[in-house]
Amino acid sequence: MSQKVLEQISSDDLKNLFSEHSTKKIFLVTGKGSYVKSGAQNYIESSLEGYEYVRFSDFEQNPKLEDALRGLELIKASQCDMVLAIGGGSVIDMAKLINIFLANEHIDGLEIVQNSKLITKKGYYFIAIPTTAGTGSEATHFAVVYHNNKKYSVAHPFVLPDVVGLNSEFTFSQSPYLTACSGLDALSQAIESYWSTGANEESKGYAKQAITLLLEHLEPCVLSPSSAHRTAVMQGAYLAGKAINISKTTVAHAMSYAFTTYFSIPHGHAVFLTLPQFLIENYKVSDAKINDIRGNMYVKNTMLELYKILNVNSPLEAFHLLLNLTHTIRIETSFKTLGIGISDLDIILDSVNLERLKNNPIDFSKAELKSILLNCFNQE
Ligand SMILES: [Fe+2]
Repeated sequence: MSQKVLEQISSDDLKNLFSEHSTKKIFLVTGKGSYVKSGAQNYIESSLEGYEYVRFSDFEQNPKLEDALRGLELIKASQCDMVLAIGGGSVIDMAKLINIFLANEHIDGLEIVQNSKLITKKGYYFIAIPTTAGTGSEATHFAVVYHNNKKYSVAHPFVLPDVVGLNSEFTFSQSPYLTACSGLDALSQAIESYWSTGANEESKGYAKQAITLLLEHLEPCVLSPSSAHRTAVMQGAYLAGKAINISKTTVAHAMSYAFTTYFSIPHGHAVFLTLPQFLIENYKVSDAKINDIRGNMYVKNTMLELYKILNVNSPLEAFHLLLNLTHTIRIETSFKTLGIGISDLDIILDSVNLERLKNNPIDFSKAELKSILLNCFNQE
């Protein structure tokens, strides 16, 4: 499945897409407050002039199956013929779910969630416009969904949006903290993609471009934002999304979910609590721990390539570079300050996402992960 990208998407670009596809009615998926605050509402209202549309925004962050099924009922009743999502990662994921459920409505939604291989049909023409620069959801063929507090990923080439519209203006209203969290999610995704067992030359190319852009522009984007920095970070986040669309994420994402679930730490902040440490740990590859069929030398060389992209000379320098970045952009890394005690480490270990962990180039036992987590705990 290929995807068209429109940089600095304007109202006219959107209107052209509607007329090219003889659109009659649009199913619009948005956030609630962020829809107004980001400027998306003004943009959409002028773009949709003369078109009928139905808006769905009645759902929380982190899409739930029951919300997606309510969205499905709405789109079924509305006779729309195009899907447009404008919002953060949850909004785009929600639109992906509704569109794929509708196209495959002969199959129960829960069955699709439990087994994406049942998907046989593509949904309506689907435009995704991110209003945050981070998750890269606009560039991926998977959608996260929760059912009974369990996290699933619906993954199929038909899930990928047909068109992505990038416009950093929608990120201007984001606070420095949210800009930092979103940007760190993107940076972590790009770094994890680079060393992932699923990486190939194409994904490594996207990841390298993403890391370079994010390293240069994330810090000023948080501390003294300008349109140019925001545009570069949005581009970096999109490229990181393209990279993980091929490779998937690895250990830092696998470790991150409990920080968010039990300590309410936003996703991008949560992944960066352990990511710097893995720039050291993943270099310690050995025959006993190798998890990438391309072998030890491949993984060592990949890590050396990564240090070169980061412009450092050793694993330790890479660790310090990323830890310093988090401090500069005012991201708290002290577990104690974040309210995480030493007795909480077990709950974090028990919540590790094993599917993500399998994508890491080297294997870690639970005891090894605990000792790595202790290192993170003890660093300030
Ligand atoms: Fe992420």
